[in-house]
Amino acid sequence: MKGIVLAGGLGTRMYPLTKVTNKHLLPVYNKPMIYYPIRTLVNAGIDEILIVTGGNNAGDFLRLLGNGKEFGLKHLNYTYQEGEGGIAAALSLAEFFADGEKICVVLGDNIIEKNIRAAVKAFEEQPRGARILLKEVPDPQRFGVPVFENGRIIRIDEKPSVPASNYAVIGIYMYDHRVFDFIRNLKPSDRGELEITDVNNFYIQEGTLEWSVLDGWWTDAGTFDSLLYACNMVKKTGANRLD
Ligand code: DAU
Repeated sequence: MKGIVLAGGLGTRMYPLTKVTNKHLLPVYNKPMIYYPIRTLVNAGIDEILIVTGGNNAGDFLRLLGNGKEFGLKHLNYTYQEGEGGIAAALSLAEFFADGEKICVVLGDNIIEKNIRAAVKAFEEQPRGARILLKEVPDPQRFGVPVFENGRIIRIDEKPSVPASNYAVIGIYMYDHRVFDFIRNLKPSDRGELEITDVNNFYIQEGTLEWSVLDGWWTDAGTFDSLLYACNMVKKTGANRLD
């Protein structure tokens, strides 16, 4: 399976921290934010990785990460997203890299305590479709929220004002090669972006979306408060643990 880290977008929610740098280069306790999603993939045994960056500071990723030696990698791939067209728009840039294989996508601001090896293995054995990861959270209205019926997910609502469950769809997604066809059929949402939630809803309609519940804590680091939380949790327990 190939891995993709999405670190594009302009990080406008984090202004002025992101005025002269990319959000994913900001520190999360003792490492730049981008280190965590790369480590998530490497710990799951994925060593062919593409970083999608954007904005004015894309060159800094190359200077920071090089060929990924710090992660035990021989090579890293990079591509550039113009503007801020949404998560699915950033992912569409990975079609050439994916080259027909299954992919695991990690949002550049998502940090986990443990690892996703079990979910990746389950997806390797899954004949087709997609697999998402869920985590129970106190504030589901900030995220994609699954709607359950008889133990199946019938729909995902993006940032609903009245959430149908206490689960968040976290920013780690696994897809088969058809994801790029689904993205081609997307229409921009009310916030003008191609939404990853709409991609997941395509798979749900097809009946091929599976899910796992993540073990250990998870957070995004894309707001001032969640960044502070991430720093404190990394200091307290460490992130990307292998146990
Ligand atoms: O963190 C999980 C949540 O991420 C999910 O529960 C939501 O369903 C999903 O839509 C997303 O929500 P956000 O609104 O918080 O995503 P945000 O716009 O902050 O983007 C998250 C990351 O995706 C960002 O750190 C980099 C990447 N991204 C985002 C955009 C908009 C790109 O690479 N390019 C983009 O154009």
